[in-house]
Amino acid sequence: MVVPGNAHFDTTKGHIESRKAFAIDVTVPEAYDTQLEVPFKGNVSLEKLEKVLKENKGNVPFMVLTVTNNTVGGQPVSMQNIRETCELCHKYGVPVNVDSARFIENAYFIKTREKGYENKTLREICKEMFSYADSMTMSAKKDGLVNMGGFIATNKQEWYEGAKMFCIPFEGFLTYGGMNGRDMDALAVGLKENLEFEMVETRIKQVHYLAAKLDEYGIPYQRPAGGHAIFVDADKVLTNIPKEEFPAQTLTCELYLEAGIRACEIGYVLADRDPVTRENRFGGNDFVRLCIPRRVYTNNHMDVIAAALKNVYDRRDTIKRGLEITWEAELMRHFTCQFRRL
Ligand SMILES: Cc1ncc(COP(=O)(O)O)c(C=O)c1O
Repeated sequence: MVVPGNAHFDTTKGHIESRKAFAIDVTVPEAYDTQLEVPFKGNVSLEKLEKVLKENKGNVPFMVLTVTNNTVGGQPVSMQNIRETCELCHKYGVPVNVDSARFIENAYFIKTREKGYENKTLREICKEMFSYADSMTMSAKKDGLVNMGGFIATNKQEWYEGAKMFCIPFEGFLTYGGMNGRDMDALAVGLKENLEFEMVETRIKQVHYLAAKLDEYGIPYQRPAGGHAIFVDADKVLTNIPKEEFPAQTLTCELYLEAGIRACEIGYVLADRDPVTRENRFGGNDFVRLCIPRRVYTNNHMDVIAAALKNVYDRRDTIKRGLEITWEAELMRHFTCQFRRL
């Protein structure tokens, strides 16, 4: 089976591949040109999607629409694209699941960038976003403003019954699914507070403050800055280092050595191997993700991060070799990989 999606999140892709299905990326091509400024770089390419749906009739159990699109840089998906994607899938009898970790940030971008939504509340926008889809999976650690937890919601009765069956042995009873009462209370409050425009705006503006600092230092990143993080374009920074030596993972380590700042590689290590050929997948972006937790840092911290990155950037020509993987798991290798510095 194949599951199309706009750059599936890594564990989503890992789950699909662990079930011997194929995750096919149908993100718009603009997402792979980091210096291009377009407002909805997380969008689905309807052309790519239709091709997958046509060529795999009967073999597409669902489509995954990730809002915001984390893997290509926390980039939003427009309301028009959500609607057209769902319509197209439904035309082929394929249901759509929204991977909703950052749905409120996505609504913020619709409100601030898409014509016709400027006077709607985030709550109204979210309601419309989900009205086109069949289900949602939510990692509540992000836009739910909690430490842990999540949920599944669907208006497909048979999916509900199916999820119900697995929920009890794997998570806990249906009403709590592994979460305790206190955590569910916190989630209810978190969702409510995060739907306040000022709350989301403050958070996103902090990310954009960091972007402005990187602009000042000339450090390339996925433009325009997305919602939850800055994605530094490591391929354009460590130009001496070939893909095979993992530029973004190398830059991540250099930043840690420089100032103890823990970024995360969203690049060639995370892209993992092709499940059939077992070759490294070098086709996507090679990013260092500077992910900013909500309500944790001040803009002074952003200054420190930017200065640390500038120090590494200024000595980039002295970094001539990257890393070699010395041990990797067969699936979702990036979580536990071991490396050697070359
Ligand atoms: C878009 C997206 N989906 C799913 C997940 C998985 O969330 P969890 O770690 O709660 O399983 C994440 C986590 O970072 C994510 O960013």
